[in-house]
Amino acid sequence: MALVKMDDLLKKADIHKYGVGSFSVASLEMIMGTIQAAEELNAPIILQIAEGRLKYSPLHLIGPVMIDAAKKAKVPVAVHLDHGLTIETIKQALDLGFTSIMFDGSKLPVEKNIKKTIEVMQLAKQYGAVTEAELGLVGGSEDDSEDLEIMATSIEEAKQFYECTGVDALAVAIGNAHGIYKSTPQLQFDRLKEIDKIVKAPLVLHGGSGITVADFRACIQYGIVKINVMTATLNKVVEGSRRLLEKNPKVDYFTYHQQTIQSAYESVTDHIKAFQSENQA
Ligand code: 13P
Repeated sequence: MALVKMDDLLKKADIHKYGVGSFSVASLEMIMGTIQAAEELNAPIILQIAEGRLKYSPLHLIGPVMIDAAKKAKVPVAVHLDHGLTIETIKQALDLGFTSIMFDGSKLPVEKNIKKTIEVMQLAKQYGAVTEAELGLVGGSEDDSEDLEIMATSIEEAKQFYECTGVDALAVAIGNAHGIYKSTPQLQFDRLKEIDKIVKAPLVLHGGSGITVADFRACIQYGIVKINVMTATLNKVVEGSRRLLEKNPKVDYFTYHQQTIQSAYESVTDHIKAFQSENQA
């Protein structure tokens, strides 16, 4: 099918009540495994990379591969910059053809977050791209640099934020956190329902690794449309490589390469099934 805009995927998912997986990638192998899973399950997906990860996978190298993989995929794929922090990187992603970007102003006071989000939205619009913002603070940290406490999204601030920005998608903090959960996450569904009543844009759940299938489905029922997953896939890749090397310490490079693709494929497959986006392409 094709490289598509994120809002087209999210609008359809919102109506039909399934979640669109937004899968973080860090290598060619992870991109290949992710696309393979989406194609086999006939599911629409988003491929994403966060600004904090670009020190490992430079945007000028991985970005064009993500775009080309999306263009050649048999299912609709949007390509998204996750946790954009600087205008320079956001602009670089848009120049490469990313169809959406996230501006992460979650650590700023709400007025400043609103002002910066509007600036980024204006830039993205020039490229025909859409913008995701974050309000409240998802815990942990996307790039392992900090271990932030969760600051739940305030319902009043969500109202103010949406009225002022009309943002295209909004990431909420409802007890979710990036990375491995230290204890079973207790998601605040009542808060999610209230935010969903006020914010007419699709809502985004970050920190998808470690949430149960039942909780994913409840989130989707109450307004979450896009779900971000990274740690589960990274861990599956590392675990797959470890098992392969334990079995055969002299393994050749290409068997190892194939294992990485397979591990990413398995993680993404499990999540697409949990989000019920199978056969929604
Ligand atoms: P996890 O690493 O917990 O899956 O979170 C991913 C994420 O939210 C990326 O923005």
